[in-house]
Amino acid sequence: MPDLKQFLAEIEAEVQQQLELLLPPEEGPEARLYAAMRYSALAGGKRLRPALFAATLAAFGQSRTAWMPFAAALEMIHTYSLIHDDLPAMDNDDFRRGRPSCHRAFDEASAILAGDALLTHAFAVMLSVPAEPERLCRAVALVARLAGCGGMVAGQAAELASSPESIDRPRLDEIYRGKTGALLACAVLSAAHLCGAGERELAALELYSYQSGRAFQIIDDVLDVQGDSALLGKNTGSDVKNKTRTYASLLGCYAARAEALLSAEKALQALEIFDTRSDLLRSFPEFFVSRDH
Ligand code: IPE
Ligand code: IPE
Ligand code: MG
Ligand code: MG
Repeated sequence: MPDLKQFLAEIEAEVQQQLELLLPPEEGPEARLYAAMRYSALAGGKRLRPALFAATLAAFGQSRTAWMPFAAALEMIHTYSLIHDDLPAMDNDDFRRGRPSCHRAFDEASAILAGDALLTHAFAVMLSVPAEPERLCRAVALVARLAGCGGMVAGQAAELASSPESIDRPRLDEIYRGKTGALLACAVLSAAHLCGAGERELAALELYSYQSGRAFQIIDDVLDVQGDSALLGKNTGSDVKNKTRTYASLLGCYAARAEALLSAEKALQALEIFDTRSDLLRSFPEFFVSRDH
């Protein structure tokens, strides 16, 4: 098995470098907007979506060098989702990535606008990479659908709209599929489209993404109860505070972890049709369920 830790460290450095270059410098009359964008995007984070993107390219034997701006754009979209997720009207969380959340460091309007700008800038960046036009179109159209009302935003809306007691397991799975699975699917499937993947490969990778996302989000819920806020870089207890329905609240942490393991197993099985070049992708589900941050 390849060394995932080493791979994640490489991706982290490359994404940081890309974001430094791609985000507008803190200058001119709109310096405060640019400062807020940079504050949240350059704060670190695990960079898992760019890593999944790059690992998928590797599964198709494709070098990531020319497409790292695309990976950084995925991280811009993820960062925007976190900035808005932390707003008082949503989870009202004061810490993120080891520092005050964007609306705390700046103000609510700046945080809303920094999120808006990161999202839209990401599309300009994705469209700037050198790729076969039809493949690039497919990849970007997929991100537009899955990051928005056909995926992540829909999942966030579903979570907010439902009263916690009314959410049963199938409904919770649907919410996780949207709010978390969809951005992981953006990363994996956009890379697959850029590589010209066929229907069978896309279907397998879709299953892999959503099962990985389910495992990832269940552990996020468990860590919100059992984790160390210093390690996580965000406050724990947020779900209880907000009465958010999670696998941890529905089943308890022990059974929730078992559910995460089950999804990680299914994610691995989905990769059976791929050869050893997908070994990096194979190492993510195990990492998702064993992580402490
Ligand atoms: C947090 O995502 C939001 C969820 C979908 C659970 P990450 O845990 O990947 O956050 P960063 O990017 O490392 O900060
Ligand atoms: C975040 O879900 C999902 C998105 C930002 C789309 P959570 O609200 O559970 O994630 P954390 O715990 O704040 O990172
Ligand atoms: Mg939330
Ligand atoms: Mg939250």
